[in-house]
Amino acid sequence: MAGRAPAVVIDGVSKGFTLRHNRSLKGLAVSAVRGKDLSNNFLALDDISARVEQGETVGLLGLNGSGKSTLLKLISGVLRPDTGSVRVRGSIAGLIEVGAGLHPELTGRENIFLNGAILGMGESEISRRFDEIVEFSEIEKFLDTEVKFYSSGMHMRLGFSVAVHTDPEIFLIDEIFAVGDRPFKKKCMRRIRELRDSGRTLVVVSHNARTITRLCSRGLVLHEGRLVYDGPARTAVKYLDDSEESEE
Ligand SMILES: Nc1ncnc2c1ncn2[C@@H]1O[C@H](COP(=O)(O)OP(=O)(O)OP(=O)(O)O)[C@@H](O)[C@H]1O
Ligand SMILES: [Mg+2]
Repeated sequence: MAGRAPAVVIDGVSKGFTLRHNRSLKGLAVSAVRGKDLSNNFLALDDISARVEQGETVGLLGLNGSGKSTLLKLISGVLRPDTGSVRVRGSIAGLIEVGAGLHPELTGRENIFLNGAILGMGESEISRRFDEIVEFSEIEKFLDTEVKFYSSGMHMRLGFSVAVHTDPEIFLIDEIFAVGDRPFKKKCMRRIRELRDSGRTLVVVSHNARTITRLCSRGLVLHEGRLVYDGPARTAVKYLDDSEESEE
């Protein structure tokens, strides 16, 4: 889209984690394999540059631990890069982790207000959209139940419904469909398509090739923290398939 500033500009971004504070066995194993010079600092993202135009729909693909969620967190501002910069134009709503941003001791109703506020909605706006949010989530019966008693699917329903009703210009989605049942998944897909068709920018992480090709026009493939492919979504999916096969 000529003449419009990009929605996201990622410029030479690296992000490391200190493994001393990391209790993940996977991370420890990686550092052991990589030798002692990296034993304390593990590069989850290694010199990533990419830009996302306004209204573009981009899928992030890669094996477990390749850095997809880390990149999404950098775009959302939850994490800061060690080197390089991330610039974002427009309001962002992210579904980075299922149930993230929901407070377990509060009820569904209270969480709609809390989560809406975190995502930048004012109280009157939340009140105005409250019924719509509840209707979309289909958890009306459990609205006054504390969220700690919710199933993972109910967490996801509540989180998704709030996020999607904030009308973000840029919408980040990380694997949310993993816990949704089929009817709700269909409804989410419809809603995400509506957002896409109204010109919002989407960045979607999924291990499901169909989700990526149905929602995204472009795909980025990460491998061990490096950007190894950037091109049409279908080709990106194929790229990942082929590289998985060659590792079998
Ligand atoms: N807060 C953290 N502290 C330490 N290490 C981390 C942290 N967050 C991520 N990592 C490490 O960074 C690497 C990339 O993680 P990330 O969550 O971005 O992977 P991913 O591509 O989203 O994987 P998955 O497909 O499993 O969701 C992993 O090795 C992970 O252990
Ligand atoms: Mg992830």
